Amino acid sequence: MTIMNVYEQSNLNVIILAAGKGTRMYSSLPKVLHEIAGRPMVSHVVATARELGASDICVVYGHGGQKVPELLDGEHISFARQEPQLGTGHAVQCAVPQVSRNGRTLILYGDVPLIGKNTLQRLLSAASPFGLLTVRLQNPRGYGRIVRDHQGRVFKIVEEKDSNPAEKAITEVNTGVMVLPTEKLSEWLGRLQNNNTQGEYYLTDVVAMAVNEGMGIATVQPEHEWEVLGVNNRAQLAELERIHQNHLASELMHAGVTLADPNRFDLRGSLRCGRDVFIDVNCLFEGDVFLGDEVRIGANCVIRNAVIDQNTVIEPFSHIDGARIASSCKIGPYARIRPSTILGEKAHVGNFVEIKNAEIGEGSKANHLSYIGDATIGSGVNIGAGTITCNYDGAKKHRTVIEDGAFIGSDTQLVAPVTIGRNATIGAGSTITRNAPEGGLTLSRSKQVHIEYWKRPRKE
Ligand code: UD1
Ligand code: MG
Repeated sequence: MTIMNVYEQSNLNVIILAAGKGTRMYSSLPKVLHEIAGRPMVSHVVATARELGASDICVVYGHGGQKVPELLDGEHISFARQEPQLGTGHAVQCAVPQVSRNGRTLILYGDVPLIGKNTLQRLLSAASPFGLLTVRLQNPRGYGRIVRDHQGRVFKIVEEKDSNPAEKAITEVNTGVMVLPTEKLSEWLGRLQNNNTQGEYYLTDVVAMAVNEGMGIATVQPEHEWEVLGVNNRAQLAELERIHQNHLASELMHAGVTLADPNRFDLRGSLRCGRDVFIDVNCLFEGDVFLGDEVRIGANCVIRNAVIDQNTVIEPFSHIDGARIASSCKIGPYARIRPSTILGEKAHVGNFVEIKNAEIGEGSKANHLSYIGDATIGSGVNIGAGTITCNYDGAKKHRTVIEDGAFIGSDTQLVAPVTIGRNATIGAGSTITRNAPEGGLTLSRSKQVHIEYWKRPRKE
C-alpha cells in the first residue's frame, strides 16, 4: 500500500524553468527550443506536465525574446519573463503569481526533457507534501548535495560552490525537481537571500526553511537515471536523443515490432504498428504513421504522415509523405510518394517514380522513372517507363484521368487536362494532348523513315 498525503488529490501547478541562456549551445535559438525527437525540449516537459493532470502550467523564459512563448502559443499555458536571471529561486518567484494558490506546485526544467510521468507520480504520492527528487551519482560534481541529519532526514541542500569538503563527499544530489505546497513556496521564496558564493537566489534554500518549520521532506529516486539528465551542449542533446530513441525502439519491440537495429531507428512523432511488422536499418518516421500487419520497411526509408496497410512492402530508399497505401502494395526501391496520394491494393510503384496528389487503383503499376501528379488512375492500369503527366501549364494545375485497364506506352507525355479511356493503349513515345477513346491504340508520333544514302559527318 502506498502512503497517501493529503495533497495527493489536490490541485497541481507545474512551473517549468526555461530562462537559462544555454551559452554552451552556441546558438541563436533558446536552449529549450532545441529538439529531441523532432520536438522542442520544453514541449516534452509541457506534455509530461499535462499527463500529470496539471491545472496551471507556467513557463519561465528569458533569453531569445518571445520565441519560447510564441512556440508554445495556444497550449493553454502561462508565461513569466525572468529578466535578469537572478537564480532558480528568483525564476520560480516570477512564475508564482501566474498559478493557482491552491494545492501544490511541481518544479520542472525545460532543459531536462526526458523526465518521466511514472517517476513524477511517485514523487507526487510520496509521504510528505514536500517531495524532492534526488539521485545518487558516482561523480556528483557540479550538483547541489543533499545533506541529511543523524537520523537520515533531509536537512538542507548545499550547492557545490558553497560546500565544505565533507559535503562535497556526499553522492546524493539534487535533481532540481521538487513538489511543495504553493502557499508555503510563495512565502519561503519571499524570504530568500542571495548571500552565497554565486550571489543568486537559490530555490534549494526552501528545503532548509521547510525543515525549520517542521515539515518533513520526502525523497524519491527516478525510475531511470537518464530521466534527470539536463542538456547544456549539443553533445548532451545528441546523447539524450539516442536515449529517448532507444526507449521508443524498446517500446515498439516489446509490442511485437522487429527492428533490424534499434540503434539505427528514429521516430519523430507517433508510430502505430500491427503484428509482425519489420523495419530495416536507418528508417525515419515523422508525424503520425500507421503500419498494418506484416508490413516491411526496407533500409533508409523516410516515412511521414502515412497509413500503410497490411502486407505492403516498402523497398529501400523510399520517401513517403502524406499518403494512404492499401494492402499488398510494392513500393520502391527509390520511390517518392508525396502528399494526397492514395494507392489501391496491390499497386506497384517502382524506382524513380514520383507520385503527388493522385489516386491509383487496385493492381495498377508504375514501375520505372515516372512522374504522376494530379491524376486519377483506375485499376489494372500499366504505366510504362518514363511516362509523365504534364499537370502544370505555368499558372494552373490540371488533372489527368486514366481509366481502368489502360496501357500507357513508355516515354509518353500526358498533357493535362486529358482522359485516357478504358482499356485504351497509348503507343510509346506519344505526346497526348487530346482525350484518347476507350480501347484501340492511340499514338502521336511521326512515321519511322529510313534514308539509305545518308552519310554520318566525318572528322577531317
Ligand atoms: C541547480 C540546483 C542544484 C541542482 C542542479 C541540477 C539551485 C540553486 N541549484 O543548479 O542543486 O543539483 O540544478 O541540475 O537551484 N534557471 C532559470 N533562471 C535562473 C537560473 C536558472 O530559469 O535565474 C533555469 C535554467 O535555465 C536551468 C535551471 O533553471 O534550466 C537550472 O539552472 P542552473 O543554473 O543550471 O542551476 P545549477 O547551478 O545547475
Ligand atoms: Mg545546471
